Amino acid sequence: MKILILGHKGMLGGELFSRFSFGHEVAGKDIDGFDITSAADCRDVIEEVGPDCVINAAAYTDVDGCETDRDVCFAVNAQGVRNVVEACGDSACVVHFSTDYVFDGTKKEPYTENDPTNPLNVYGQSKLEGERYLREMTDDYILVRTAWLYGKKGRNFVRTILEKAENADALEVVADQVGSPTYTRDLAGAVQVLVEGGHRGLYHLTNRGRCSWYEFALKIIEFADLEGRVEVRPITSDRLTRKAMRPAWSVLSAMKFSNLTGRTLRFWQVALKEFIDENRAWLTAKSTETSHGVVKQS
Ligand SMILES: NC(=O)c1ccc[n+]([C@@H]2O[C@H](COP(=O)([O-])OP(=O)(O)OC[C@H]3O[C@@H](n4cnc5c(N)ncnc54)[C@H](OP(=O)(O)O)[C@@H]3O)[C@@H](O)[C@H]2O)c1
Repeated sequence: MKILILGHKGMLGGELFSRFSFGHEVAGKDIDGFDITSAADCRDVIEEVGPDCVINAAAYTDVDGCETDRDVCFAVNAQGVRNVVEACGDSACVVHFSTDYVFDGTKKEPYTENDPTNPLNVYGQSKLEGERYLREMTDDYILVRTAWLYGKKGRNFVRTILEKAENADALEVVADQVGSPTYTRDLAGAVQVLVEGGHRGLYHLTNRGRCSWYEFALKIIEFADLEGRVEVRPITSDRLTRKAMRPAWSVLSAMKFSNLTGRTLRFWQVALKEFIDENRAWLTAKSTETSHGVVKQS
């Protein structure tokens, strides 16, 4: 297949680019030469590449930033999706990503694809509007809701914890938000199964299992062999002053994907261990990037 990846320099886009480069003809575009908020840019690039499938991993992902940058957030996460779908017309399938933040977190059981949405923050609202454009404008789509991503590029909770651990004896991390940490490598593999299998529709995809940000941080410290050197302390979200509200429960059910394909994603702990083992040097290198979830050093 000829595949165009939008946002191919981002955390998930980079992983998708590597994954689909084996066995497919892949092109990538990102913010440095393309603006998804421009309908003309979308038309031009899709006309130039002539893809069978456009994978849209471009997004405005700064959840707190969205609260103050509402217009840009909606332009990228909602209008941008509309531009892509319009430019694809009937000629290409659209693969798009959304978020657990379309839910309000009150369910207390894993959210299925049929559950009603009710975003608590502007980011979630913009992603939901992007979903609506996609689903109303075409049937030729794969829409993947995912959560708590980490990977080899960009803002990354795992890297942030390890960086903070370099300079602190103790970290305080929120313990009252529960979700499923998801390795972009595993997500990209599942997306490949959907694309190559010719499947269409909405799917929830995360690594298996669940934990709080606090429990996630504990495992990061354990797998990086830092136990005993850094203490991780649980705190509640009300100790944070963050602009955007987050759902307390972000667990998504990937049952639909499993029933359809016969596959399951790995448990989050297994994926995390592999990620840390393979990227130890990079993870502890100094960075100016920030990430959500970690809160305070003491
Ligand atoms: N990260 C998570 O935990 C998470 C959770 C659930 C769902 N998702 C969804 O998964 C997808 C991928 O997320 P990610 O974390 O990989 O995102 P990311 O690392 O922020 O990558 C997004 C890419 O899109 C680019 N971009 C931003 N504005 C653009 C524009 N106007 N035109 C073209 N490109 C633009 C970004 O450039 P800049 O870096 O220069 O802005 C970046 O390269 C998104 O749809 C996101 O909503 C992510």
